[in-house]
Amino acid sequence: MYKLLIRPMLFLLDAETAHHFSFWAIRMLSKFGFGRLFRKLWMVNDPKLEREVFGLKFKNPVGLAAGFDKDARLYNELSDFGFGFVEIGTLTPKPQDGNPKKRLFRLLDDQGIINRMGFNNKGVFEAAEQLKKEHRVLIGGNIGKNKVTANKNALKDYLICFEALFEHVDYFVVNVSSPNTPGLRELQDKEPLTQLLKKLKQQNSKQAKKLDLNEKPILLKIAPDLSDEQLLDIISIVEDTRIDGIIATNTTIARKGLKSHMILTEEKGGLSGKPLTKRSTEVIRFLAEKSGKAFPIIGVGGIHTPEDALEKLDAGADLIQLYTGFVYQGPALVKNINKAILERS
Ligand code: FNR
Repeated sequence: MYKLLIRPMLFLLDAETAHHFSFWAIRMLSKFGFGRLFRKLWMVNDPKLEREVFGLKFKNPVGLAAGFDKDARLYNELSDFGFGFVEIGTLTPKPQDGNPKKRLFRLLDDQGIINRMGFNNKGVFEAAEQLKKEHRVLIGGNIGKNKVTANKNALKDYLICFEALFEHVDYFVVNVSSPNTPGLRELQDKEPLTQLLKKLKQQNSKQAKKLDLNEKPILLKIAPDLSDEQLLDIISIVEDTRIDGIIATNTTIARKGLKSHMILTEEKGGLSGKPLTKRSTEVIRFLAEKSGKAFPIIGVGGIHTPEDALEKLDAGADLIQLYTGFVYQGPALVKNINKAILERS
């Protein structure tokens, strides 16, 4: 139904308009009670799917990746599509518009997307308000810095977001890997990254004490474009700062072996979807093998089939996330992945 009817209609619209329309449609359908039907259609409930990772209990290991519900407006409704967790953000302290439109492109022949959204979001305080609603699903809070904030002041932005979301999310993701905020990826260098993560860990224990809550798991989201040497640095940074895990990977700036027209492939931004499948799995495998599986990994990048998902899990991922595959394949993908995991267990 999705691929035959809904996707062709959505793909007639410009990609960003289609995203807003889908959002509106999901909200409306949920208001009129379709959530129950969605859950019946797509949710797979089985204790064998449950996972305990970084101290949290996930109903299933398939999550919705950051960027889809940036402002935490639809996390409960989106969980009806069968996700075991939803990551909101990337959020920044101040609201920002992001880059000028057009900034989102479908590469149909490659089953990919190029985006240069540039952290468009309504700001972390507005999201914190949204998150005061009940949560029917585990929520990750993905945090970043405003475009106007210089890298030397980035820590302050991350701390503001961390503090604002602390009571409202189940885990944190430090995003230093988006290619669409100028200079952001420089924060992945060993020295600034170690400092940033150590300060966030300190804030974590302060905040937990102050509010009499447990500390929140802190994960780092990395780019697929890091060299082996940089990935080894990442492993030692995780050990040194004692953060709780890695999300591998964000979108890529590479443009190798694409079939789509040059007009599209030369658009600036991060590429996601099928062209990313192999590289993100390589990164997961590298991190898992070289660290001796010392920390949890959430695998994300180009999961469009249950086989892609199983490959990521076999490479060392504890949980997985989808974005582009969800757009191309629809909600049946979430169900089919969960069923494939069950069949293998
Ligand atoms: C993203 N992604 C993303 N990641 C992130 O950490 N913060 C963000 O704000 C966004 N925004 C965003 C917007 C759009 C339109 C896309 C397509 C992607 C990256 C996303 O979470 C994921 O890491 C990559 O897209 C790779 O997974 P898929 O899409 O190949 O399944």
